[in-house]
Order: sequence, then C-alpha cells, then structure tokens
Amino acid sequence: MRLNKTYWQHRYEARNTGWDMGMVSPPLGAYIDQLTEKNINILLPGAGMGYEAVYLAEAGFEALTVLDIAPYPLESLKERLPASFSSENLVEADFFDFEAGPFDLVLEHTFFCALPPQLRPQYALKMNELLRPGGKLSGLLFDFPLTSEGPPFGGSKEEYEQLFAPYFHIRVLERATNSIPPRQGSELFFIFEKK
Ligand SMILES: C[S@@+](CC[C@H](N)C(=O)[O-])C[C@H]1O[C@@H](n2cnc3c(N)ncnc32)[C@H](O)[C@@H]1O
Repeated sequence: MRLNKTYWQHRYEARNTGWDMGMVSPPLGAYIDQLTEKNINILLPGAGMGYEAVYLAEAGFEALTVLDIAPYPLESLKERLPASFSSENLVEADFFDFEAGPFDLVLEHTFFCALPPQLRPQYALKMNELLRPGGKLSGLLFDFPLTSEGPPFGGSKEEYEQLFAPYFHIRVLERATNSIPPRQGSELFFIFEKK
C-alpha cells in the first residue's frame, strides 16, 4: 500500500476519514488559545479538513500556510475560511518537497501517524528545516505501540524523544489531559523547540 496522493484523495472521496474529528482537537485548541502573538508565521502540514486553520483564522492569525497532498480537503477548506484568507496559502504539495518558511510554529495533528514509519527521520529533519531557530513544532502524537498496522501508526514517548532530540529541545511531551473520550490515554501533547 502506497500512502500517496491517490490513496489520501480516495479516502476523502469515499468519506473513509475516521480520523476526522469535525472540530479542533481540545489540546490543540487550548494551545492556540494561549498564543498571544497573532502575526506569527504558522504551518499546518497534512491539515486535512483544516479545523485548526479555521480556528486560527477566526482568532485573528493571518500568516497561515495550510498544506495537504490531497486536493479534496483543500477545496472544502476554501469555502470555510474567511473571505480574506488568500487561497495562495492553501498549498497542495507533498510535505517532503515543500520549500517555504522559516515558520515560527508548525502544528501537528494526525499527520505524523499517517506517514509510513520509515519516513520518520525525514519528518524530523524536514520540520527542523522549515522552522526558524527557536521556532516550535507542537501538537499531538499517538501513544500506542508501533506495529505494521496503520495508518495510524503508533509510537512511544521514548521513541519520539530519540527521534526529535537531535534537532529539538523537548520542552513538553506528556499525556494529554483533555483528549476527546475515544482518544483519552492515547495522546501525547508536545512542544519541541528548534535548537
Ligand atoms: C490522518 S489525516 C489528518 C488530517 C488532519 N490533520 C486531521 O487531523 O483531521 C492525514 C493527512 O495528511 C495528508 N498527507 C499524507 N501524506 C502527506 C504528505 N506526504 N504531504 C502532505 N500531506 C500529506 C493526507 O492527505 C491527510 O489529509
């Protein structure tokens, strides 16, 4: 199975989107709510239906880049973002080929777990390249054993520390306390700061 553009586009077209919460995940919403600087440059990779993008845009954040490999969710998002949002900032591309930034903040939500696990070292490196020094990668990572079954693919706190520590200061990596009920106990909220 190749987790490529065709795969993801088909999952959206078939409405086979069990990951889609229909809303911003509460831990991410709480994180966004305490951000005070509204002019920071934010990337939402593998954003899907982009609930964080709408939430951020409605809260007054303007420098948003929304990236996905599949056109379907980006088309939908165009209709749901404020009219002032430039469609140039809705980018249909493969994250690993994406050249932009530097970003102050990247927000991760069920993108990492959707990638083939062998791409994880490249993910950590690419995030490092996209952020400015001191910039933050934040979001949620699943906390259940990594097996060949997926997506979503799991992992553990120890694995994530090992993967990201070469490029990032691990500021927070802990069990989320405000996950939605089906994900309670299986999400780690994290803030990694680029070295
Ligand atoms: C599990 S979904 C998560 C979507 C959204 N973040 C959410 O939580 O609802 C994974 C998303 O990553 C996108 N994706 C997968 N591989 C990608 C890649 N290499 N580059 C960019 N987007 C990718 C898929 O199209 C899909 O929208």
